[in-house]
Amino acid sequence: MEQELKTLREAALNELAKASDLDELNDLRVKYLGKKGSLTSVLRGMGGLSPEERPKIGQIVNDIRADLEGLLTARSEEFKQSALEKRLASEKIDVSLPGRRPNIGHKHPLTLTLDRIKSIFMRMGFDVAEGPEVESDYFNFEALNLPKDHPARDMQDSFYITPEILLRTHTSPVEARVMQSKKPNDPVRIIAPGKVYRCDYDATHSPVFQQVEGLVVDKGIKLSDLKGTLDLFAKEMFGSNVKLRFRPSFFPFTEPSAEVDISCVMCGGKGCRTCKDTGWLEILGSGMTHPGVLEMSGYDPNQVSGFAFGIGVERVAMLVYGIDDLRLFYDNDARFLAQF
Ligand code: DAH
Repeated sequence: MEQELKTLREAALNELAKASDLDELNDLRVKYLGKKGSLTSVLRGMGGLSPEERPKIGQIVNDIRADLEGLLTARSEEFKQSALEKRLASEKIDVSLPGRRPNIGHKHPLTLTLDRIKSIFMRMGFDVAEGPEVESDYFNFEALNLPKDHPARDMQDSFYITPEILLRTHTSPVEARVMQSKKPNDPVRIIAPGKVYRCDYDATHSPVFQQVEGLVVDKGIKLSDLKGTLDLFAKEMFGSNVKLRFRPSFFPFTEPSAEVDISCVMCGGKGCRTCKDTGWLEILGSGMTHPGVLEMSGYDPNQVSGFAFGIGVERVAMLVYGIDDLRLFYDNDARFLAQF
């Protein structure tokens, strides 16, 4: 048995010395030291030895194991080292190369548009107010003169969370929230930008979109104040040549109500594909705050009056940048976004 082990040792050391890469080393490790390896099977045969011989053979096997492991480690170090040297020799680092600049992003076109809208109104003295996107039925509808069975609720297909809580369908609830946070009849001059939600999806409607609400309440606020404010906004946003048209409309929270069109920014009002040959483009809804809405939020319609408007941010951005599909804003395609 001793002789057998000696031969095994010689053969193993020999083969290890000849191995030419890490893979071969691994194969040899398995062959000699593995669970089914030669050394292990010798150990298994020790049952037939006499009690005196057993420790002696055991010792020899352990020595061989130690020798083989030592050589295995040394050789694998050798291979790792030479692989590293090879890499270092071929990989040249040119420290004089210019560095790689990280790609710096920029604001999304909708954010740019919103920033401009905000800055125009802030220059007119408006404050910016905010409200929650998850809103109560009370603020989203009821406090705006839209009681439970009001047919105008159908105009705003909603995402309900419970029968009393929904994703707000417009930014108008902020009007009621702001008035209720103030002392009755205190003047209000706010815009409220933010995301709103509706069950809608096509080239001009997204289930999530953005609006900017506006509300002014004070003594003696008149329709002419609304017109003057929106006229100035439109000229700042689209250029001083733009004309405004107030079209009678209906919103439960305003009386009278108007939809506001601007003269088409593509054709200047002559008629084209964008304005569907009408020469006009709708950009917002507006009106004089309904007395009932003032009253529900603690304001006295005999003392104060107000006007309000709701601007569609995507709509404005599409017109400013000449984009015909609103979904592009949300696709996150860098080729599109890089153009702004
Ligand atoms: N909330 C309306 C909508 O989303 C837009 C609107 C119209 C807001 C008239 C107003 C307003 O404040 O006075 O369709």
